[in-house]
Amino acid sequence: MSKAVDDFRLKLGGEEYVPIFVGGMGVDISTAELALEAARLGGIGHISDAMVPTVSDRRFQTNYVQEKQKKYKFNIGSIDKSVVQFDLERLAEAQRLFVGRTMDAKKGDGVIFINCMEKLTMNSSRDTLQARLLAAMDAGIDGITLSAGLHLGSIELMKEHPRFRDVLVGVIVSSARALRPFLKRAAKFKRLPDYITVEGPLAGGHLGFGVDDWQEYDLKTIVQDVLNFLSENELDIPVIPAGGVFTGTDAVEFLESGASAVQVATRFTVTNECGLPEKTKHHYLEAVEEDIIVNTISPTGYPMRMLSQSPGIADGIRPNCEAFGYILDNSGHCQYVDAYNRELEKNEGKISVLDKTCLCTQFRKFRIWTCGHNVYRLKDTTHKLENGKYQLLRAEEVFRDYQFSKDHTIKLPDLKTSVSSEVSLAAA
Ligand SMILES: Cc1cc2nc3c(=O)[nH]c(=O)nc-3n(C[C@H](O)[C@H](O)[C@H](O)COP(=O)(O)O)c2cc1C
Repeated sequence: MSKAVDDFRLKLGGEEYVPIFVGGMGVDISTAELALEAARLGGIGHISDAMVPTVSDRRFQTNYVQEKQKKYKFNIGSIDKSVVQFDLERLAEAQRLFVGRTMDAKKGDGVIFINCMEKLTMNSSRDTLQARLLAAMDAGIDGITLSAGLHLGSIELMKEHPRFRDVLVGVIVSSARALRPFLKRAAKFKRLPDYITVEGPLAGGHLGFGVDDWQEYDLKTIVQDVLNFLSENELDIPVIPAGGVFTGTDAVEFLESGASAVQVATRFTVTNECGLPEKTKHHYLEAVEEDIIVNTISPTGYPMRMLSQSPGIADGIRPNCEAFGYILDNSGHCQYVDAYNRELEKNEGKISVLDKTCLCTQFRKFRIWTCGHNVYRLKDTTHKLENGKYQLLRAEEVFRDYQFSKDHTIKLPDLKTSVSSEVSLAAA
């Protein structure tokens, strides 16, 4: 008899969960509302701490961005951004507020994790990452997913915290080769990860593969490599495949071959709880396969998948590192700032930057439409309404479909009457 995800449970930290992680999506695309739904339904939800001071200003009327901008206003005309530092106490405060408010609202049997990207180097990579990690633990986060980077020093950054051994910690890797050095360093502190997320080449966001060779890899093979590596080393750590798991049956295939849960994201981008603007959700729903590109415009140095219609592509906006500056490396450099200044020297007036994008501005404004490769299949997960638009879903409908569907079927959401959907579209 064919199985559903609900026939399996993830064992983590002595508890059992529905084996579905909703992946972290920055900046505030995987909102607290989305993460809370996953937790309420017994799974694992993720918030993301990308640009957390900005997220806090939006949600809690704090003033972190303006404060930083005011402090460094004098530097706006300078190419050298090394003086523009984050105030660590303020950063920690924003993180505690964001995580604390989310955790206070948690209901149900699931858990909420935070996605912490190492590549957000913030002009002082070690200190800012440490401030984010410690503050998340202070505020009661259930788990931390270390992402976008090798994180060789991250476990050590957490070691003095009283919750070092009780908070759940996971790492995202794209190969067994990347996992090895992480485990070696973690073993030094006798703090192996509680789970390992293995992200394949079809995922959304940044990719751990080359822009020209990602097609040569497939998630099943990489997951098997990681499972083999762990068993050869007698390590029993749950493995969570991510990237392209589109149906409950895709998930079951992984669960039957040794994975402990799956991580999914793209299907949740078209839910009411997702943080993307409603218009952007409709672009995702209308996307066709030819619209999806993988390019190198991210100044992090990692390839990224996105819709080719993303309005942020080639935009030559002036960088605003004084207010933001999340991608500045430890010497105050960002590949976008360099590319922008190069174009500025060549042209006067409005400029266009083709090879890099300002992640801080474009992600904050939801103008780079990153997505998993299966975004073009989203239209098969919902109804097309009389007005030609697709119906958005509730996170619960997507979660339950992953949990209970069988034989690669997808249960469509309850059909809204066309009047109420027109009203909700007009209100957007
Ligand atoms: C819109 C979007 C934004 C994402 N942002 C991040 C991120 O900020 N950090 C991260 O580690 N992964 C990010 N991801 C990757 C997801 O967390 C997840 O691992 C992956 O997309 C799962 O594959 P799927 O989208 O095919 O289900 C993002 C994915 C999407 C679709």
